[in-house]
Formats: sequence, structure tokens, C-alpha cells
Amino acid sequence: MKKLWSRRELSKLVVGAAAVSMASTRSWPESRATVSPSDKAPFPPGFVWGTATSAYQVEGAVNEDGRGVSIWDTFAHTAGKIRGGATGDIADDFYHRYVGDIKLMAELGVKAFRFSIAWPRVFPQGSGAANPKGLDFYKRMILELQRHGIVPYVTLYHWDLPQALQDRGGWENRDTAYRLAEYAGYVSRELGAAGVRHFFTTNEIRSFITSGYERGRDAPGLNLSPKRLAQAKHYAVLGHGLSVQAIRAHSPAGTLVGLAENPTASTPVTESDRDINAARIAMREENAAYLTVILEGRYTPRYLQDLGANAPQFTDAELKIIHSPVDLVGLNIYGPQYVRASDAVAEYEVLQQPATFPHMQSEWLSIGPECLRWTPLLVNDLWKPKAIFITENGCSSDDAPNQSGEIIDLARGMYLRNCIAQLQRAIAAGAPVKGYFVWSLLDNFEWPSGFSERFGIVYVDFANLQRKPKLSFSLYQSIIAKNAI
Ligand code: FCB
Repeated sequence: MKKLWSRRELSKLVVGAAAVSMASTRSWPESRATVSPSDKAPFPPGFVWGTATSAYQVEGAVNEDGRGVSIWDTFAHTAGKIRGGATGDIADDFYHRYVGDIKLMAELGVKAFRFSIAWPRVFPQGSGAANPKGLDFYKRMILELQRHGIVPYVTLYHWDLPQALQDRGGWENRDTAYRLAEYAGYVSRELGAAGVRHFFTTNEIRSFITSGYERGRDAPGLNLSPKRLAQAKHYAVLGHGLSVQAIRAHSPAGTLVGLAENPTASTPVTESDRDINAARIAMREENAAYLTVILEGRYTPRYLQDLGANAPQFTDAELKIIHSPVDLVGLNIYGPQYVRASDAVAEYEVLQQPATFPHMQSEWLSIGPECLRWTPLLVNDLWKPKAIFITENGCSSDDAPNQSGEIIDLARGMYLRNCIAQLQRAIAAGAPVKGYFVWSLLDNFEWPSGFSERFGIVYVDFANLQRKPKLSFSLYQSIIAKNAI
């Protein structure tokens, strides 16, 4: 027998009993009353909901309009580096299909789009003569965004270093930091004139250095010694600092500058004050070479001590540049790193996740939505940034169209709902998070995993490049529309 809901019971479920017509005495669910959960958690007015992509992962058109070669072209075309032998030669063909993709964003209701500029489109040789046709593509695309009222958030360096610069040592060469700044200054002047007011210098210095220069999983596929690695890290953060200065020098007043970094997302393993404090210390120490030196202007004593003779060489003047004030701190957050207090010198212990720990399709992407709460809170507590953006959050899940052609990606829905709910808690507790960009709009070229790990809220059929919104697209659309979860 169906349960009959009393008026009192039903009113407990709704935001104000007025939301439901009480005229009918029919049983639930036949009455089809509109039930809004009474614990709806709002985001601040004007919260920036967006989606994110990066150039090499979506654009394709690698030989068009004078584009030069990047380290990812070289790497992807090296046998055995990418699953299934995939490359970004075509990827999502976003270069030619951006009009349709921006239409999808408009339907989704996003207010912002974070994308990256392919450095080798603009400076095919990394520096020297610019290729105006390269930037023309982004100008056309930005115009299309603006037509739909979508605000462009530009990342300058999302891993596709011009090969010509790698041939001169890449991030092991101090000069690369200056070339990045030169490129950043040029792009911010040109795109500033086109109305862009938000720039991120780099995407995940931690990733492109450790995966590309230490583990060799990503381009350029190196396995550097600890000493050379520490020096490359130093030049990369120097490149960020120089770029902040170059953007400020070349862009219009009111331009906001920052970076998108993926700090190890320290998450206290219990809610005890000791573990919370340990997570705070871990956040600072585990990210010493990246966010910490950028936001504090110094390497922590422990970082330098642990490296000993392998510590990077640096000057005070460089630290000052690295510490150039930023307006935006972008955090790419996927999964937690659990931390507890320890009586050892380090004061914290990072807990290894067992093989049985649940993860999304990508093995590295463990499920712990509370990192969306703790990371912004700890970053705010440590460094008091003016504004935090979640510049990436999302997950892989291998869903295909069902018989009726729908893509019912329930796992992604679960992941996003939980992460966004935890983020809302962080904001309610005072973290100055101003926006959130889901990774990613489209299934795309997922670096060494090729096309085998799908992160999109829009499905891409890689046989014909047709797009189809997944169920998570509708979920995200409804969250944006209500500005609440
Ligand atoms: C991040 C990268 C992004 C994408 C996601 C899944 O580390 O910034 O390009 O690959 O992971």
C-alpha cells in the first residue's frame, strides 16, 4: 500500500509549505507536488560557474595557421607513450567546432569558460616573431563567448611548451621563464584589447614538472636527478612570477592575474584539532616548491633542509619576483591526501591509501569529496588570498550511450554532487571561493591515457566527433540555475 503523507510530514520536506499545493488530499506521489529539499545550500550571489578545457586536449588542427610544434606533439608521436597510440592531432576538433561547443555552454548556463592558449600557435618557435594568425583563432572564439555573455578565463601555459624551447633545455633552462613572460605579456596585451580580464599564468606546475621531468609519464618524458629537478621547479615558479609582472605591465586596468595549481589536497583524517592542524602544516610543506614559495616568497626551512645538497640555487631577487602579488588563486582539486598528526619532527603524517580505496575510472582519482571543503579552508587560513577559484574539479567515468542514446553517467553525478556540496560548506565557513570550473566540458585527450579516460559532461564520439550532453550536464545545469545544491 502506498504511504499517505500527512500535511505536516510533507511541509517538513519543502522550503515553505507554500511551495506545494495543499488543495489536493490525494496520496503521494500521485499529487505530483513539487518538492524542494529544505536543506538547499545556496552559493553567494554572482558565484562564477564555469567549465574548463586546455588547448592540446581539445583543439586539434595542429598544423593549421602557422602553429609550431609543442612537446606534446613530439611526445604523443613517440611510440609507446600514449595509450592506444592516441595523439592530439584532431582531439575534439574544437578549433573548428567552437561555435557549437559555445552554444552548448550557453545552454548549460555557465557564466565563464576557462581555456588555454597554445603557446606554439602564438610563437611557433617559442619566442621571436609572433604568428598573428594563431591568436586570431582565440580572438574569434572570445568574441563568440562574449556574444553569449560567457566570460573568458585564459590560462597561458597548460603544458604545451614549444618544442624549440625544449630543445634549449625547457624548464631546466632559466631562459624559459623569461620566454614565458614575454609570451604572457604579448598575449595579455592582445587579448586585453579583446576584453579579457582574467589570466592564469600556468596550470599545475607541480604536475608538469613531476610527471614530465621526474616520472617521465608526460612530455617531455624525462627522469631528472633530484638536484636538476629542484632547479627546474624553481625556474617554473620564476616563470610564473615574471609572467604576473608582464601581464600587469601589458594589460588594461582591472585585469585579474593568478595561477591554477594543484596542491596536494591535505585533508585531516579525523576532525580533531590535532589532525586539522597537521593537515594545515602538510598543506604548506607538501606544496613548498609551488604554492608556498609563490604565496610566501620563501622556501620553507624544512624543504631546503630535506633537499640538502640538492636544494635549488636561487637569489632573494628571484624570490621577490616569484612572490609577485596575485589576485586569483586557482585550485585544481580532484582527490584527497589524508593526513594525521604525528609526534615526529614533521608533525604530520601522510597516510597511504590502500589498494581497496575507492576511486573513479582513473586510478589516481580517489574519492574523498571533503577535500573540496578542506583545501580552500586551509589555503585561506594559511595565505589569505583575495579570491580562490576552483579552476578544475571533475572525474573520469567510462559511460557510453545506452539504447535510447542517453549517457546516464551516474558516477560522475555522484562525484560532482558530493564535491560541490563540500565546496558550499567551505564557502559557508568563510573561504573566499568566487567560482568553480568543472573539468571538463568535453571528453578529450587525457594526456598519456589518450581517449580512454572520459572527463566530459558532454560525450564525444571520437569516430565522428559528435557531441551529446550526458546526464551530469543536466545535473550541473540545475545547480547553476538554482545557484545552490
Ligand atoms: C589535471 C589537468 C587537466 C586534466 C585533468 C584530468 O591535472 O590539469 O589537463 O588532465 O587533470
